[in-house]
Amino acid sequence: MGMNWTAPKISSHKVRDGNTPLVMLTAYDAPGAKMVTEAGADIILVGDSLGMVVLGYDDTLKVTIDDMAHHTAAVARAEPDAFVVADLPWLTYHISPEETVKNAAQLIRAGAKAVKLEGGYDRIPMIEAICKAEIPVMGHLGLTPQSILSLGGYKIQGKTTNAAITISNEAKALAHAGCFGIVLECVPSVVGKLITESIDIPTIGIGAGPDCDGQVLVFHDLLGINHDLQPKFVRTYANLKETTIEALKSFADDVRRKNFPTQDESYQLSDDEIETLGLYSKPDSLKDNPLGSW
Ligand code: KIV
Repeated sequence: MGMNWTAPKISSHKVRDGNTPLVMLTAYDAPGAKMVTEAGADIILVGDSLGMVVLGYDDTLKVTIDDMAHHTAAVARAEPDAFVVADLPWLTYHISPEETVKNAAQLIRAGAKAVKLEGGYDRIPMIEAICKAEIPVMGHLGLTPQSILSLGGYKIQGKTTNAAITISNEAKALAHAGCFGIVLECVPSVVGKLITESIDIPTIGIGAGPDCDGQVLVFHDLLGINHDLQPKFVRTYANLKETTIEALKSFADDVRRKNFPTQDESYQLSDDEIETLGLYSKPDSLKDNPLGSW
């Protein structure tokens, strides 16, 4: 809370050194960013989960760099204390280092303080290029939702010794290439622990067990705004979907029963003006209604 986080500060924030775990939450707009920062989060992730929880897509692959820049700018306008990281969406860091740097710069110009990208060894040249452009970059290993087609679904990763060792080696390679932190998604908790112990930058887990250096959840998931497809790692702290629908239903009922608005919720004319208005209430005079501009 109020820590003035920077990428270098985050990069050395390990729980094994006696630090408290980092708190990362997603946000996609200014009110969300204000609430997340007031709740004391250390990092706001403008995640490409945007595509699923806000834009109504059924995966993250349709999210564009312009979508991400638009929502990153909304988050940044809230001037949150938390450190803002924005996701590079699919295919914005796969083609060439030059294109990758340009896309990362678009998110920085929109107000992010760092970018995040998914993947292991294949991403090393892109991570190095982003770092050379002086842009801090966070990695993302384990279940990488942008790889949903090649992975064949949202599946737990690192379930065999070989797979766990590969992810662990990739984490070391990402740290070596310059990442200041790594999101670990959907790996067995023992693998989360192993990776966390084997690198000097923080791991931020989502479905990666309790031993990571931080935890992240998606805003809409923890608030119970989306109830479809909740994985077991989501703890729902509120039931805002039901609460919101109840509030909206009450409004609709009040309108239909003519209970809304009351005179207290309406603007009033002074008695003098009401009297004057009375002079105009004859049908003829209404043709030149002086209140027409209302
Ligand atoms: O897009 C996102 O929200 C993420 C988190 C799930 C880590 O990448």
